[in-house]
Amino acid sequence: MKFLRYPGGKRKLLSFLENYLPTGDEIQGKYIEPFVGGGSVFFYLQPHSAILSDLNKELIELYKGIKNYPKKVWEIFSTFPSGKKPYYKIRNESQENKPIYYRAARTLFLNRTCFKGMWRHNPEGQFNVGYGGEERRHVLNYEDFIGLTKRLKRAIIFHADFEKTLNMCSDGDFIFLDPPYKPGSREMNQAHYINGYFSVDDQKRLANKLKKVSQEKNAKWLMTNSSHPDIRSLYKGFNIIKVPKGTSSVIGVFSNNSQEILISNY
Ligand SMILES: C[S@@+](CC[C@H](N)C(=O)[O-])C[C@H]1O[C@@H](n2cnc3c(N)ncnc32)[C@H](O)[C@@H]1O
Repeated sequence: MKFLRYPGGKRKLLSFLENYLPTGDEIQGKYIEPFVGGGSVFFYLQPHSAILSDLNKELIELYKGIKNYPKKVWEIFSTFPSGKKPYYKIRNESQENKPIYYRAARTLFLNRTCFKGMWRHNPEGQFNVGYGGEERRHVLNYEDFIGLTKRLKRAIIFHADFEKTLNMCSDGDFIFLDPPYKPGSREMNQAHYINGYFSVDDQKRLANKLKKVSQEKNAKWLMTNSSHPDIRSLYKGFNIIKVPKGTSSVIGVFSNNSQEILISNY
C-alpha cells in the first residue's frame, strides 16, 4: 500500500531497483535515506534501523506525528469531512498552536485529496494545491496505515540538508539517494524544483560528499539521477547503469527510454 502521493516518487521503479538494492536483512548497519520524500524504498525494504531526512519540513512533521501518535492521526484523518468546500476550509486554516498529530492528520488528508498529489506552497508558505477528489483518500485503510507507521518506529527522522545526514554514516551502512532531478534535462544550469530548488551546485556538493563517504567509510550507496552528461561526469569511476524503463522528461509520464540512471559505489 502506498502511504503518500509524492512528486518524483520511486514506487514504479521498485521492480527494477530491487535488482540492485540489498534486502532489509542484508544491511549490516543503518539504512540512510537523505531525500526521503514519500519513502517508497524505505517502506519496501523494511530495514531494522534507519535514518530518514528531508528538507521538506511539513513532510518530516507528518512522519514524526504518525510515528508518535498513529491512532490520534488516523482518528482525525478519517473523520475530516468529504468534499470540495471542507477541503478548502481545512487547507486554509491556520496551523498555529495546533498539536503535531493534528498537523500530521491535516497534511495526510491534503496529500490524499489534493489535485494529483502535488506539494506546492504560496510565497507565504501556505499549501495552495486545489481539490482533487476523495478516491485516493479511502483506499488507505486503518490496517495498512498502522502497518506503515510501525515501520517508522525503527527510524530516526529529522528535517535537514543531505550533508548533515550523510555525516552520520558509519561502516556497514547502506544509503539510498533520490535527489530532485529532471530526467535527461538538457539544461543543467537551471535548478530543479521539488519543495525547494536543487541547483547544479547542490549536485556537485552531493557528488563530492559521496566521494568522501566512499573514501572514508565502508558503506554502500545507490542513487537515482538524470542521465545528463554533466551528472555522469560528476561520477566518473563509479558504476552507472541506465534505467531501461522509468520516468521520461515529462514529469509523471513513464517511458521505455527513461533518461534516468542508477549510480553506485558497488
Ligand atoms: C525526488 S524526491 C524523493 C522521492 C522519494 N524517493 C519517493 O519515492 O517518494 C526528492 C526529495 O528531496 C528533498 N530535498 C530537496 N533538496 C534537499 C536537500 N538539500 N537536502 C535534503 N533533501 C532535499 C525534497 O524535499 C524531496 O522530498
